[in-house]
Amino acid sequence: MSQSRHRLADVLALGPVIPVITINRLQDAVPLARALVAGGVRLLEITLRTPDGMAGAEAIIREVPDAVVGIGTVLTPADLHRSIEIGARFALSPGATPKLLDAAAAADIPFMPGVATASELMEAMIRGFDAVKFFPATAAGGLPYLKALAGPFPQARFCPTGGLTEENAADWLAQPNVVAVGGSWLTPATEIAAGQWDAITARAVRSRERLKGGAGG
Ligand code: 3PG
Repeated sequence: MSQSRHRLADVLALGPVIPVITINRLQDAVPLARALVAGGVRLLEITLRTPDGMAGAEAIIREVPDAVVGIGTVLTPADLHRSIEIGARFALSPGATPKLLDAAAAADIPFMPGVATASELMEAMIRGFDAVKFFPATAAGGLPYLKALAGPFPQARFCPTGGLTEENAADWLAQPNVVAVGGSWLTPATEIAAGQWDAITARAVRSRERLKGGAGG
């Protein structure tokens, strides 16, 4: 576990922004990853929301060596083990079931469980996960909620996702307990469907610019 934790810190140091990516068509995966990497965004969360998610992640790992691929929407130990098999560098979940946390604590991959309550955070932290995804960040209570969690949990570090935008991501990253910010705003489905890779690169550059000065920025 402590090795995985160090590796998670190494991964997060490549941030601070993590696009949350949905692959609707397998052939979009590689050009999309290349567009993001060209814009300086190397950490990618490839979600398992769609049937092509895992295959898309595999293609990116094979063909875009500068991308650092994490698998998102990990719901079960099987999802986690498959992520390791394909060579993902990290994994994330929207939640923190005891079963998944136990599997992740025993597995050799940096993992960020998702938490939205103090109790979920406690379940994660007793197993050594002190860097977590805060999901759904905006709907769960936004910045005031995150600031409130900092009180009893000063050692916890968060990557908020859910409702963040290009405009407000910097406000989140300015919090001392936020190590990275994530979301789908970097990869609009319409631009992916239309193959507008230059627009995606331009937004990646812009987003990184706006986040300069925050964690890792
Ligand atoms: C996630 O899975 O992390 C979130 O659904 C991303 O939320 P967003 O689409 O509001 O950015």
